[in-house]
Amino acid sequence: MNTTSTPAWQPDTWRAHPARQLPAYPDEAALAAACAQLRQFPPLVVEGEVQALRAQLAEVAAGRAFLLQGGDCAESFDTQGGAAARETFRVLLQMAVVLTYAAARPVVKVGRIAGQYAKPRSADTETQGGVTLPSYRGDIVNGAGFSAPERTPDPQRLLRAYSASAATLNLLRALAQGGFADLHRLHGWTTDFVRASPQGRRYEALAGRITETLNFMAACGFTSDSTPQLREVAFHTSHEALLLPYEEALTRPAEDAPIDAARPWYAASAHMLWLGERTRQLDGAHVAYLRGVANPVGVKIGPTATADDVLRLLDAIDPHAEPGRAVLITRMGAGRLPALLPPLLRAVRAAGRPVVWSCDPMHGNTVTSANGYKTRDFGLVVQEVREFFAAHAQEGTVAGGLHVELTGQDVTECRGGGQNLGDEHLAERYTTACDPRLNGSQSLELAFLVADLLKARRG
Ligand code: PEP
Ligand code: CO
Repeated sequence: MNTTSTPAWQPDTWRAHPARQLPAYPDEAALAAACAQLRQFPPLVVEGEVQALRAQLAEVAAGRAFLLQGGDCAESFDTQGGAAARETFRVLLQMAVVLTYAAARPVVKVGRIAGQYAKPRSADTETQGGVTLPSYRGDIVNGAGFSAPERTPDPQRLLRAYSASAATLNLLRALAQGGFADLHRLHGWTTDFVRASPQGRRYEALAGRITETLNFMAACGFTSDSTPQLREVAFHTSHEALLLPYEEALTRPAEDAPIDAARPWYAASAHMLWLGERTRQLDGAHVAYLRGVANPVGVKIGPTATADDVLRLLDAIDPHAEPGRAVLITRMGAGRLPALLPPLLRAVRAAGRPVVWSCDPMHGNTVTSANGYKTRDFGLVVQEVREFFAAHAQEGTVAGGLHVELTGQDVTECRGGGQNLGDEHLAERYTTACDPRLNGSQSLELAFLVADLLKARRG
């Protein structure tokens, strides 16, 4: 027996490790006070929900379900009276219907929502007109406006992030259970700007077929009143676990566990958390934090990751190889994926690790337009998704999910798609707080493409 024991993991264990991407707070005492207050607040999610998501993700890992994860790159404290979350929820529901129908398998729905407020940045500062200020790091840290008061990291923002998360989560729970998500209302999930598009018409045709089936089922006695599965959806939240003081303060012991050193902990800020491409160093603070919580953990895997990196990350966050624990979210870039992903798939399969493989076709395909906007080409997003499915088909592994930055709103942030947006359109409705998102029409178009790929897999 191994008698040398390492000290038990604690929510603050990460503090002994080098931490990248954390803001420099000018007033440490104010930060500690805000965190002390957060520790008094109720958990945003409970452990039972976290375990339910793990069980669903285990089904994804086994190829019996598909993961759809999406939402803003960065949420804003300006919730637009709830419209921002409602539109994201609405388009995810539409995509999920399209995918469920094609795959004839459950779709696990996870929003980048109700807590996606912290952003990693490539530069610590930004200079405009000879003035240098700290970079904007998301609403939980500082303000986007270019002035010293806005850009100074403010601990009070942790409390506002908690409130905004709670309010958003409350709306999402109401939408998921209060009738909005009832399958009988799937025609009503289409917004006007999408309805007229080819994908809008394709969606309406599918909705018509499903409605006919629902009418048949109603005649057999399966109505929304008798069948909760028809009137409610399971919807989960997620965000990047970046701002560790916030995550630490919202880490809670599992409810029914005995109070001893081995008591499991879970992150109560969201159902699922992920580790960003910039903060996945093995000896780093972010890995040190995430290894100790029981939630499903995503890991972004970019083009520089080696098979050895991936296996050692899995050793750290999923030492017992538990299905539903680790979600590897690859973001290689279109054209680069076919060479980079297969060696990782082979290594992980050979190690017998039951991970979920998910495709993020956004972050490897970000460019700056000639007129200065950060954008992405819909064609390249589609290409990376196709390459992802092809690589899994080739290696005999499971293409388990899709991870996208999107909104149901009619924004003009990514080029291409059915509306054929070009550089000249980007200025019209470019409202993202960080990276460019697919709009409602582009999101639905992508869902139909993935549906075709899933159908092809069914044979
Ligand atoms: C993100 O998901 O918004 C992000 C910053 O991704 P990555 O860590 O993959 O760059
Ligand atoms: Co992003």
